[in-house]
Amino acid sequence: MGYQIPRGTQDILPGTVEKWQYVENKAREICSRYNYKEIRTPIFEHTELFLRSVGDTTDIVQKEMYTFTDRGERSLTLRPEGTASAVRSYVENKLFGLPHQPTKLYYIGPMFRYERPQAGRYRQFVQFGIEAMGSDDPSIDAEVMALAMDVYKELGLKRLRLVLNTLGDKESRKAHRDALVAHFEPRIGEFCHDCQNRLQTNPLRILDCKKDRDHELMKTAPSIHDYLNEESRNYFETVKSTLTAMGIDFVIDPTLVRGLDYYNHTAFEIMSDAEGFGAITTLSGGGRYNGLAEEIGGPATPGIGFAMSLERLLLALDAEGVTLPIEDSLDCYLVAMGESAKEKAPSILYQLRKAGLKADKDYMDKKMKAQFKAADRTNAKFVAVLGDDELANGVISVKEMESGNQTEVELEEVTQYILKQI
Ligand code: HAM
Repeated sequence: MGYQIPRGTQDILPGTVEKWQYVENKAREICSRYNYKEIRTPIFEHTELFLRSVGDTTDIVQKEMYTFTDRGERSLTLRPEGTASAVRSYVENKLFGLPHQPTKLYYIGPMFRYERPQAGRYRQFVQFGIEAMGSDDPSIDAEVMALAMDVYKELGLKRLRLVLNTLGDKESRKAHRDALVAHFEPRIGEFCHDCQNRLQTNPLRILDCKKDRDHELMKTAPSIHDYLNEESRNYFETVKSTLTAMGIDFVIDPTLVRGLDYYNHTAFEIMSDAEGFGAITTLSGGGRYNGLAEEIGGPATPGIGFAMSLERLLLALDAEGVTLPIEDSLDCYLVAMGESAKEKAPSILYQLRKAGLKADKDYMDKKMKAQFKAADRTNAKFVAVLGDDELANGVISVKEMESGNQTEVELEEVTQYILKQI
């Protein structure tokens, strides 16, 4: 047997890739409506960037990064997510100095995490994400959530749930953290090894543990909502009332903590309630990360964003039975019979294509019948048939496939004729 694709990766073949292009175009279109501009950053970054931003006690950094040493002995990592790179680039290119603020960016590209592959979870996946940096106006939190929901809704998804929480500011988080340590510490021996480590390094992450989620202490754990200071509480209230005023439904889940360390204030996930969507129901996640730019050497900058994988989006479309309106047909298929006609065919085809028409012909020396079959498979709107006799008379026969109408057209006129009909 030959080579096989690495575990957790996929080939996206013609026939499927059109769906990807469609959703990518939709994402771009919506970003342009919301005035977000595309940013393209490298696929790999210095490992240190992710340690500092995503957080060195997170699962992503501890277990999931594709890290390697290059020939210059530098430690590099295939990006596990896009926020760190976007913020790094914002700081490095001093985007904060540009006149238009906040800086509103989006990206679409592959991310890499060494996770256990299953439906909806891959080792290479494509994230579409946005980041808005420079504003701590709660209405931009609502904008970010609205944009994410718009992408799903406009593609036709209905079974969506926007789950919202606040993680509070630094002071609130510190008070909550102390309460969590006090809560879990006396019985931490009953928890998994990871949670025992998390108790001191990052107790919030205990709440996110899959192994210990049914432990009774999980249900009685102190909630961040009891430790919010006034500023954090007011911020959260404004985010909620803005969403409500915009007519965007959401539910509050005080246990929603995210898997990355840079969050504060707003945190959210969008879930799919579609039957048959599978074990993983999170479609996307995001939140506020005030302080991240500073953490990696930039000026104090508020920021918020989200990311979704296109893989999970496409699975959700399947689960809800949504068919995307993808048009994939040729304008014209050229059937040529006879030696002189076959010689003439490439230049006719070239003319059609130069005029902007989608056109093709046979390259496998097929008989006429097989050429017509091939034309059928391409869903061609017109089939142009050129035989040696037609060529001698300077004409070509053009059939409109839907109506079955067939016309003889001057060879010189064929491009104009098809253009006019379309
Ligand atoms: P995240 O929750 O780690 O957040 O990932 C965001 C989304 O990426 C997930 O909801 C899911 O759609 C997708 N995703 C993550 N891992 C996988 C995987 N192994 N296979 C398929 N899809 C996956 C972030 O990455 C943050 N950077 C989001 C953000 C942007 N926060 C602020 N700005």
